Amino acid sequence: MKIRAMKHHEFYEKLPRRARYNLSDACGATATLQDILSVDEIAALASVPLIYGSVEGRDDLRSGIYNLYQQLYPELGIDHITVLSGTEEGLFSIMACILKPGDEVIGMLPCYPSLSDLPACFGGVFKPVELNSGNRWQPSIGDFAAQVSERTKGIVINSPHNPTGMLLDQGFVDSLIALCEEHDLYLISDDVFAFSDFSGIGCQLNVLKYEKAILANVLSKTFGLPGVRIGWVMTRNEKLSKLIRDLKTYNSICQSQLDEQVACFVMQKADALIKRNNEIVRENIELFDGFVANNNSLSWHRPEAGMLGLVHSSEPLKPLLDSWFEKDVLVLPGELFSIEGDYFRVGFGKKEFSKALACISAD
Ligand SMILES: Cc1ncc(COP(=O)(O)O)c(C=O)c1O
Repeated sequence: MKIRAMKHHEFYEKLPRRARYNLSDACGATATLQDILSVDEIAALASVPLIYGSVEGRDDLRSGIYNLYQQLYPELGIDHITVLSGTEEGLFSIMACILKPGDEVIGMLPCYPSLSDLPACFGGVFKPVELNSGNRWQPSIGDFAAQVSERTKGIVINSPHNPTGMLLDQGFVDSLIALCEEHDLYLISDDVFAFSDFSGIGCQLNVLKYEKAILANVLSKTFGLPGVRIGWVMTRNEKLSKLIRDLKTYNSICQSQLDEQVACFVMQKADALIKRNNEIVRENIELFDGFVANNNSLSWHRPEAGMLGLVHSSEPLKPLLDSWFEKDVLVLPGELFSIEGDYFRVGFGKKEFSKALACISAD
């Protein structure tokens, strides 16, 4: 395996200090156990047996997760879900299970760094479909088709998209499925923002109608709980599920039993948490749109779902971001997501967003 550190982690390590606010954070509102659980639920954590759990994840947890998908996939169930330590372990496991050296994976660029960089860890090659602002960041099926070769093993998508906020629609996904069927490819859907549907546009895509599709999701984003390392993959492909579970027996083996218990409680109140966090995102996007409108040098495509947006500055980016850092506000440049030019990413999940914006609005 060839491992290279993920770009944004390297970037954080090189910062001279921590900033008070991270305006680019990709997670929902920060919460403690006291914010999300009742006193009785917190007390119940004290009696969880600290044993090895099951490789695939507790049945009641998978059943809570499945509730999120029951309407879309009534024919599937908890057997199609495997619990893992975040989407990161999900993506890693999928690539490890499907790739041989020389195999190719097609995906969009810019993107979350591990989507483009993971294939190389297994000797694979990432083939980019470049998104551009002029097209509101929308890819075309032709661009994906043009990248297919004899060595292509899979296509990876992410919608709502990190970092642009772009949304794919079901018609597009159906065409991608047809392309995958034609060339016998896996379709990997990084769904981490799929429940961040703050405008009710309906952004959960049906990818699992396809036999070789797999989705990955997590508590980190919409739920705002990245410190509970619970994510999951879901697929109707039994062979891929088994490979991922077998791989897990050499990795984490099972989840922390405390994390699984917290996640069970979270799933029992999932609808309320999703609603609350999406409301925060909606309000923050509204605020930020006003900020862009008052700032002649900034432009963007306002996202309709998800929790991220990509903003262009007509003034040089580095001095601008340095000046914001001086005001204790960290903003991530687009280069971390492999986009050239003066772009930066903004995340709308945090309750303190208005305070962070106030720090840089005084210019
Ligand atoms: C698109 C995307 N996929 C995957 C991840 C990984 O998240 P986690 O490891 O918390 O599952 C992130 C985190 O920012 C992300 O933005």
